[in-house]
Amino acid sequence: MRRFLFSFVALLCLCVAVSAQVYLDASAPMEQRVEDALARMTLQEKIALIHAQSKFSSPGVARLGIPGLWCTDGPHGIRPEVLWDEWNQAGWTNDSCIAFPALTCLAATWNPDMALLYGQSIGEEARYRNKDVLLGPGVNIYRTPLNGRNFEYMGEDPCLAANMVVPYIQGVQAQGVAACVKHYALNNQEVDRHWVNVSVSDRALYELYLPAFRAAVVEGGAWSIMGSYNRYRHQYACHNQYLLQDILRGEWQFDGAVISDWGGTMQTDEAIRNGLDLEFGTWTDGLTDGTSNAYDVYHLAMPYLQKIQRGEVGTEELDDKVRHVLRLIFRTSMNPHKGFGAMASEAHIAAARRIAGEGMVLLRNERQTLPIASMNKPKPVILVVGENAIKHMTVGGGSSSLKAKYEVSPLQGIRSRAAEAGYQVAYCRGYVGDIGGEYNGVTTGQSLADERTPEALLQEAVAAAEKADYVVFVGGLNKAHQQDCEDGDRTQYNLPYGQDALISALAAANPRTVVVSVSGNAHAMPWAQQVGAIVQAWYCGSETGNALADVLFGDVNPSGKLPYTIMSSLSDYPAHQYGDRAYPGTNKEVEYCEDLFVGYRYADLYGTKRPLQYQALFPADNGQPAVEKTIRVVPPKHEPLYPFGFGLSYTTFAYGRSSLSDDTLRVTVTNTGSRAGQEVVQLYVADKKASVVRPRKELKAFQKVYLQAGESRCLTFIITPEMLQYFDAAQHQWHSEPGDFDLLIGSSSRDIKGKATYCL
Ligand code: BGC
Repeated sequence: MRRFLFSFVALLCLCVAVSAQVYLDASAPMEQRVEDALARMTLQEKIALIHAQSKFSSPGVARLGIPGLWCTDGPHGIRPEVLWDEWNQAGWTNDSCIAFPALTCLAATWNPDMALLYGQSIGEEARYRNKDVLLGPGVNIYRTPLNGRNFEYMGEDPCLAANMVVPYIQGVQAQGVAACVKHYALNNQEVDRHWVNVSVSDRALYELYLPAFRAAVVEGGAWSIMGSYNRYRHQYACHNQYLLQDILRGEWQFDGAVISDWGGTMQTDEAIRNGLDLEFGTWTDGLTDGTSNAYDVYHLAMPYLQKIQRGEVGTEELDDKVRHVLRLIFRTSMNPHKGFGAMASEAHIAAARRIAGEGMVLLRNERQTLPIASMNKPKPVILVVGENAIKHMTVGGGSSSLKAKYEVSPLQGIRSRAAEAGYQVAYCRGYVGDIGGEYNGVTTGQSLADERTPEALLQEAVAAAEKADYVVFVGGLNKAHQQDCEDGDRTQYNLPYGQDALISALAAANPRTVVVSVSGNAHAMPWAQQVGAIVQAWYCGSETGNALADVLFGDVNPSGKLPYTIMSSLSDYPAHQYGDRAYPGTNKEVEYCEDLFVGYRYADLYGTKRPLQYQALFPADNGQPAVEKTIRVVPPKHEPLYPFGFGLSYTTFAYGRSSLSDDTLRVTVTNTGSRAGQEVVQLYVADKKASVVRPRKELKAFQKVYLQAGESRCLTFIITPEMLQYFDAAQHQWHSEPGDFDLLIGSSSRDIKGKATYCL
């Protein structure tokens, strides 16, 4: 009788459950929907949900009407459709996108409103293409200028990256598309990226390498995050107990899904235990060698199922993974509130152009070389030189490569704007760099071969430069392998293809020589003092040429600031001062010997007499307990060539005195020039006396302000306790010490305009 009653109740519950279908009710609480769906799924369905079914998609639960997930790269445009099980494009004719500027450019705007606009725009493109997860943005810290993927990230400073990543995510997710923040964590180089183990102190981890990820999760509410390829504490980041379980889920309370990088899952047991939710890209043709359509042999597929069936592992972890993936599905593919999106709309085109123009950084402008002025003579000539003036850059660079609907090259942009200004434009190639233009079956269709010798190309350009009124050299790097590209770092700090000699020769031939660097990384500029002007122009996507012309002709007043320090030579970078062990590593091990002193934190030590020496706590690793290691940092021998936070304008700004009352710092900024412009006002905080070694100062806030000529504005910054803290590794908590702190208002990290002292 009892048995009968029990079965009856069970049947009743089942009927209620079947009829209720709470998981389909978008108005029901998320957790109820998740539990309801989970309860209805078979073991096989759960296993299917947590790994890929094709290159970029994972299945839902067809029987229950739960749709799957479609992912797309990211991070600066929507990747073309690829074949089911191959990296090659599928050859669709309706999948070309607007290419937005690379993320270094976005970071260089120092404008969170631009990040929101970016997120909304790219989110709409993703939505229109029916994508649920956008694989980006990337926020790995700029540690070395050789890193091939720096152009996909947001620079060297955690505060800048954190402030820019949050609105990007919010903009994307408002479209019902998940942002997938990558590559978590410590993926700061491409050499050996698939296995290198990073050894870093707890303090550097928490103070430099994690804050942008934390902001993405805690403030931005990212719905997914991508584990990186490298290892930390000798566990792969995609299934790393410390990064995923302890920090991401434990400390940051992340409730979204952890997605592996494509081919980043290496070990079944760890993948089960250590917090990976969704496995992509393992052992299929492409990144890693293997069989095609091998989805069943993924770590989180048959191997996992068999372990459960053999009783070797339980289903607790599986249910948690399924919960995370279901939540991601409810937020995206089953989100009834999402819009329809749009592709290549006027608004997206305008956004791409605006962000690009705001991100370009004017590094030098002697004798007011720029903006290109109208001339009192018939048909003045602008000579454009350089391969990057014509080469399409939206194809290349690795997984962020795009099939752009169109791309306005610098030469085209300059040509059309110059015509309006009454200029003639001539073009010389100057050098031949990379003539490729293909990625996974997408081609630029350009034929860039040129058989002439380097000498002939140089002579032609110099002869033309002598006669021109302006010379605009457009060079830099180019997203070919080892020139700002995934899966390989640059091998030299100088510009490739003889560009340095060419630029010097052009500058000698014509004082009005402007150098435009199309790149996503710092490079040497031995000619910096010889040329009239330098513009850091990034990879700007579809609207590259128009945005560049906007800046060169003064339609847009430049307001970008460097998101990283440009040193004179590679040896000036701290990561390059400890030999191979600090970069690129030896025997698959890399040590972040420079510790906290990355970028301007290092450059600020210029003028310090003695090396800094201190003890830093490194976590337990490889069976060894946590240890204190000695960090020794030799101060730089040179000032940076162009410091972090630096960028010129066609107008000038004056800063009033900084005044502090209670927790509010006020500073008045005035546009003292004759045209409207924007200034980025930066707040750095320096602990005047601390019991631990701290960087000389750290960026804690910034504001971008638009001012008409002659206009003044008072900006306020609220000083929060977090701005004063350092990470106390022994206590494993943030801590601030009572005493005085300098609040430094700067127009760059090396141009401090005002100071106030805050007493804690
Ligand atoms: C990259 C990721 C990318 C993925 C899918 C990997 O090689 O590291 O950034 O999202 O491929 O294309």
